[in-house]
Amino acid sequence: MSYNLLKGKRGIIFGALDENSIAWKTAERAHEEGAQIVLTNAPIAMRMGKINELAEKTGSEIIPADATSEEDLNNLIEKSMEILGGKLDFVLHSIGMSVNVRKGKHYTDQNYSFTEKGWDVSALSFHKVCQSLYKADAMNEWGSIVALTYMAAQRTFPDYNDMADNKAYLESIARSFGYFFGKDKKVRVNTISQSPTPTTAGKGVKGFDGFIAYADKMSPLGNATAAECADYTMTLFSDLTKKVTMQNLFHDGGFSNTGVSNEVIEKFEK
Ligand SMILES: NC(=O)c1ccc[n+]([C@@H]2O[C@H](COP(=O)([O-])OP(=O)(O)OC[C@H]3O[C@@H](n4cnc5c(N)ncnc54)[C@H](O)[C@@H]3O)[C@@H](O)[C@H]2O)c1
Repeated sequence: MSYNLLKGKRGIIFGALDENSIAWKTAERAHEEGAQIVLTNAPIAMRMGKINELAEKTGSEIIPADATSEEDLNNLIEKSMEILGGKLDFVLHSIGMSVNVRKGKHYTDQNYSFTEKGWDVSALSFHKVCQSLYKADAMNEWGSIVALTYMAAQRTFPDYNDMADNKAYLESIARSFGYFFGKDKKVRVNTISQSPTPTTAGKGVKGFDGFIAYADKMSPLGNATAAECADYTMTLFSDLTKKVTMQNLFHDGGFSNTGVSNEVIEKFEK
């Protein structure tokens, strides 16, 4: 169902790898809500991915960009404004990757060049995206920038590894850049802290099956799906949330404020 929430709006969506990606669902929803979008992903991911299918479905163009490269980002932003015919109203940062996780390095045995690479891709890239947009004056007033995060930034989930630290840094950027973007450009910057979601990045977390089932049993409303995350993001890209900024917004069925649920207690009753 469409509410035309993004009618006439233009934006860039980072991170659609396949149909499970949160960014994929968000691009589909933004299109349904009347937005014109440019899709982007790392050149290597696009070779393996199915992004062309999504571009066709949403009538959008694709511009490759490594989110750690300022040059790529500047090019992406300039070209996007040309293609879309004006400044941007929204941007989704839906990017994450830990080399330590990929290579099976434990949190207590990091390879720091892996740590730095993961931090650059997962956290600093958000600053780079914001800075490129800011310097190019690419956002319309009352525009909205959203990045995706996870609650391991506040509470420890042992197998989330160095991504926990990356997410804490990412959430801090939303506050720090949110201040300047708000003051100088009237643009809001927020993070959405999403439930565990079965995507390529999500399934990379060790013990993901147990982890997602536990979160579902703990959450009064159950886990939030990728499609539901896309719905929520539509509200943040719309004009209905103009004064929401510098926030980390939990989209997790209530998990973050639940101490324990009856379902979990039952598992431990003798
Ligand atoms: N899946 C979950 O359980 C979950 C929960 C909370 C938050 N998140 C966050 O949601 C976001 C999207 O992840 P997802 O779950 O949809 O998985 P996904 O694997 O579908 O998406 C991750 C994306 O990051 C892209 N990427 C990696 N390196 C890049 C680079 N250098 N430049 C540009 N793009 C790059 C990948 O190509 C991919 O498209 C991530 O920030 C992730 O941490 C995921």
